[in-house]
Amino acid sequence: MQIHIYETAEQACRAAAFLFAAQLTRKPESVLGLATGSTPVPCYRDLIAYHQQGLVDFSRVTTFNLDEYCGIDYQNPCSYHAFMEENLFRHVNLRAEAIHLPDAPRGDDGGASGRAYDAAIEAAGGIDLQLLGIGRNGHIGFNEPADAFTYGTHVVNLSQNTIDANARFFDSVDDVPRQAISMGIGNIMACRSVVLIATGESKAEAILRTVHGPIDPHVPASILSVHPSVTILLDREAASLLPAR
Ligand code: PGA
Repeated sequence: MQIHIYETAEQACRAAAFLFAAQLTRKPESVLGLATGSTPVPCYRDLIAYHQQGLVDFSRVTTFNLDEYCGIDYQNPCSYHAFMEENLFRHVNLRAEAIHLPDAPRGDDGGASGRAYDAAIEAAGGIDLQLLGIGRNGHIGFNEPADAFTYGTHVVNLSQNTIDANARFFDSVDDVPRQAISMGIGNIMACRSVVLIATGESKAEAILRTVHGPIDPHVPASILSVHPSVTILLDREAASLLPAR
């Protein structure tokens, strides 16, 4: 694990954008794993700027998002489809057919949808670089604290902690879907490289447990400590509980 601590969230996100830009320079046909949430927005903003400056080309890129709510219309502004469209896709030259988000129609237990998503990732050659945020409870994607790590893409029941944290995107907490479909921990561990951004004091405990705690499915991100290529980008606040180095 490589850990980098920056003064501000903006700087941590800028570092993530550099890593993605470098990946696309090195391998223009990269398969990227993307994330939603507030944290990566400045990173996407920087990538859009690089694209507009002619520095980054997405024409040969394939993307797979980590997760999506179940039973939500793509047009719903709270869907992750809409989020990605707004914050990245419509600003860059990605091919529509190269964009993937998992999808579990209402009533689907996620088994068939999950297997189809895993097969699509495999058919694309696997994910080269995966972007992650982290939940206050240590979740990555929608892999919530649990008694065991998950493997492939699957349907999850969201924890109250996550529902409360995501309520800010909806009119009320009652509107937050109770289920989502998410890549599993196995999918994330299979990515060639992972970049995790965490900013703000609310993430400090999760980061401490990820970096220094035991590997524990109750802190899903803790498994990253044995991934061979993980870069963690933090601002001062998210790093505030880490022992001084
Ligand atoms: P956030 O979400 O970036 O909105 O804090 C991160 C996550 O829950 O993975």
